[in-house]
Amino acid sequence: MQTLIKSVPLLDLHREYAPIRTEVLKAIEEVVDSTQFIMGPKITELEKKIATYCDAKRAVGVSSGTDALVIALMALEIGQDDEVITTPFTFFATAGSIARVGAKAVFVDIDPLTYNIDPAKIEAAITPKTKAIMPVHLFGQMADMDPIMDIAKRHNLFVIEDAAQAIGSTYKGKKAGSVGTIGCFSFFPSKNLGCCGDGGIVTTNDEALADKLEILRVHGSKPKYYHHLIGGNFRLDPLQAAVLLVKLPFLEGHHAVRRQNAAFFDASFKGILDTPYVQEGNGMIYNQYTLRLKNRVAMINALDAKNIGHSIYYPVPLHMQSCFEHWGYKAGDFPESEKAATEVLSIPIFSGLTQEELETVVRVITNHKN
Ligand SMILES: Cc1ncc(COP(=O)(O)O)c(C=O)c1O
Repeated sequence: MQTLIKSVPLLDLHREYAPIRTEVLKAIEEVVDSTQFIMGPKITELEKKIATYCDAKRAVGVSSGTDALVIALMALEIGQDDEVITTPFTFFATAGSIARVGAKAVFVDIDPLTYNIDPAKIEAAITPKTKAIMPVHLFGQMADMDPIMDIAKRHNLFVIEDAAQAIGSTYKGKKAGSVGTIGCFSFFPSKNLGCCGDGGIVTTNDEALADKLEILRVHGSKPKYYHHLIGGNFRLDPLQAAVLLVKLPFLEGHHAVRRQNAAFFDASFKGILDTPYVQEGNGMIYNQYTLRLKNRVAMINALDAKNIGHSIYYPVPLHMQSCFEHWGYKAGDFPESEKAATEVLSIPIFSGLTQEELETVVRVITNHKN
């Protein structure tokens, strides 16, 4: 069977790896030759560099973005009977991690412009069981952190930033992962900083919390084989850390090209389509470039006809996922999230796109009568 070659792929990692292939393979070889397959200098070096990059005091490498969220909740001792306020318009892991520690995700609807949690609706969702707010910096744009931090302070709540899609993103000059109690990042291959498999990292300005995260990462053991906490195996793979160390110096360059691509799309679609809204003071990294369309199916058909990549992030808001039925939510509870889920469509934005490809995308989209 012939596979369909996208004339413009949604993402082409070959293009990201081609210029750094030799360095990546050398870095992997170094780890193999060292036989330091668990923890070690590559992890420590990456943690130092990511902490610096994110303007955080400490960073702790972990096994994935999902595990970053789980270990953050564990470190803050959030569990059974606790509630965490978050958005239903996000990837599953946000609420999945809350459920996995035994807590309940209390959803709050989104701001329809940014797709991030609407701070004006948070306070009404706070109960005596609320322990934390988990804003998600969706598509690479930070949530409106000032009012969120203000609410958290007044109600004595932790703030866990789900920054999986937002490494390097800024809010009024502050970096993602440096504002809340803990920041959680993913190195999933499609992220702006992705590795060759699964990986993640947590950031914090709280030294004691960072020490606790490091202990939880290795089954709660310190010293080895003495367990005062129940942790897990949340370690980042040194092979992935080695790859990330090669890629990190290029990250700002990739952000810049994504921003250029976004500016080209913004200008081309002006007055025709709803393009991404960037809140004043935000430095977005465009992990996704997401359009809002009244007739999404027709646009998908038009893109498919020309083999242009696209994806829906996300088609089902989390309060409507069957596995969360026991939380008692129903369709209609979060109208902005539900509406967004039927209207959003992400198109190619990665830094390897050629000008010709960008123009092809624009031509196909603008020629289509939506
Ligand atoms: C918002 C959000 N949270 C959490 C995750 C989980 O990250 P990972 O896939 O590395 O486990 C992702 C990754 O796709 C994400 O987009």
